[in-house]
Amino acid sequence: MSFSANILVIDDEESMRAGCVQTLEQDGHRIQAVEDGRKGLEKTGKESFDVIILDLKMPGIPGMEVLKKLREDDPNSVVIVITGYATIDSAVEAMKRGAYDFLPKPFTPEELSSIVKRAVDCRLRALEDVCIAVALDEKMISKAIIGKSDEIAKLSLLIKKVAASSSTVLITGETGVGKELVAQTIHRLSKRREKPFVTVDCGSLVETLFESELFGHTKGSFTGALETTRGKFELANGGTIFIDEIANISINMQSRLLRVIEEQEISKVGSSEKIKLDIRVISATNKDLLMEIEKGRFREDLYYRLNVVPVNIPPLRERRQDIPILANYFLKEFIKQQKMTVKRISAEAMRSLEMYDWPGNVRELRNAIERGIVTCEGKVIELDDLSYNKSMPQNNINLSGKGSLAELEREKIIKVLNQFNGHKTKTAEYLGINRKTLRQKIRKHRIHIEP
Ligand SMILES: Nc1ncnc2c1ncn2[C@@H]1O[C@H](COP(=O)(O)OP(=O)(O)OP(=O)(O)O)[C@@H](O)[C@H]1O
Ligand SMILES: [Mg+2]
Repeated sequence: MSFSANILVIDDEESMRAGCVQTLEQDGHRIQAVEDGRKGLEKTGKESFDVIILDLKMPGIPGMEVLKKLREDDPNSVVIVITGYATIDSAVEAMKRGAYDFLPKPFTPEELSSIVKRAVDCRLRALEDVCIAVALDEKMISKAIIGKSDEIAKLSLLIKKVAASSSTVLITGETGVGKELVAQTIHRLSKRREKPFVTVDCGSLVETLFESELFGHTKGSFTGALETTRGKFELANGGTIFIDEIANISINMQSRLLRVIEEQEISKVGSSEKIKLDIRVISATNKDLLMEIEKGRFREDLYYRLNVVPVNIPPLRERRQDIPILANYFLKEFIKQQKMTVKRISAEAMRSLEMYDWPGNVRELRNAIERGIVTCEGKVIELDDLSYNKSMPQNNINLSGKGSLAELEREKIIKVLNQFNGHKTKTAEYLGINRKTLRQKIRKHRIHIEP
């Protein structure tokens, strides 16, 4: 897979900048180039870069200083320094100060490509496993986005970028994929983290109370308005408002919402006084809003207003590598909560988890693990302890959507292993390969097998 990284080049030499831009753009990356350290730091203050290529010898702020600042601002930044001939000492010094690697001048486009490729891999690896551990506040339940698929790595990068800005975000994805978790993470990583994160669940809003819930009302403004109240927008002021299930509100409410978002001000029901807002809007839906627009159920102008930065979370069945790590994560979580004796998931059960299509996505997986723990009598959660509809997906190799040959091979091996209860000799025989090849493939595809 090639990953399109966001790269910044800081070099005072025009021809160097042009050369880097040309080579790296050809490799499919997005490049920006500036001529000195001050401009570079300005850029990194506004936007997050996966890799930064920095010339050490520049007029203005010395390169070594720039490196120091870059690393202080973002300890995860991956910086490649460019050094002149015979300045190996400064290269060593730069490495000590946290540069990822150095590239001595002059260098060929191939050398540049290859060092950047390694740097990008390093950046992605850093995001593997536990991508974002969010524990800014001890009291806040720390919830991480778990996963090691490319999809999750990309999602994490996007979240970090989005968090640094105040842009309006629309999160899309099937039920249970983690839309709310992503919205919370964006908030917690943003400058607004100390301010409230307020959720509006449009699925449960009563139409007649919509305005009052969102904007508040003054005492006596309608029957039952006994006190002056603050609506969700006012409560979220300075922070983030998360508008969940956005497709569930009527066209009428959509117009009201559009106006508030555009004008960034509200007035309470029963009052004409305007309250100024400073709010980041994140909305989420599991519906296809373009389809809703076509059917006349969703306002196109609101859609474009909300969808400034689209964040799509792919369904779990399209990132099956995340299943074992999520399963083990939930297992640990429940064990800790319920102070149970140590349990693990048998290899056979794990393979089955990996094959299932998970229509309810991560939430369904989490529930399955919780039930498995309760059902399981020993210390190992076996296939029989898992109570979802296991027969369904195992019989059909999924040919829809994306699927490389390698993925098909992996699915086939898992299916046959399951058929023979993990018996390797029988599996190899059935597949027409020898045991050694099977073992290699099991390792290559990281298939779970009883030790
Ligand atoms: N990548 C992940 N890592 C860890 N936990 C996750 C991940 N994705 C989802 N979860 C967990 O799965 C559950 C469902 O997630 P969440 O409520 O965010 O989904 P959703 O997309 O908002 O669902 P719905 O469409 O039903 O509202 C939560 O308990 C959440 O913490
Ligand atoms: Mg949700």
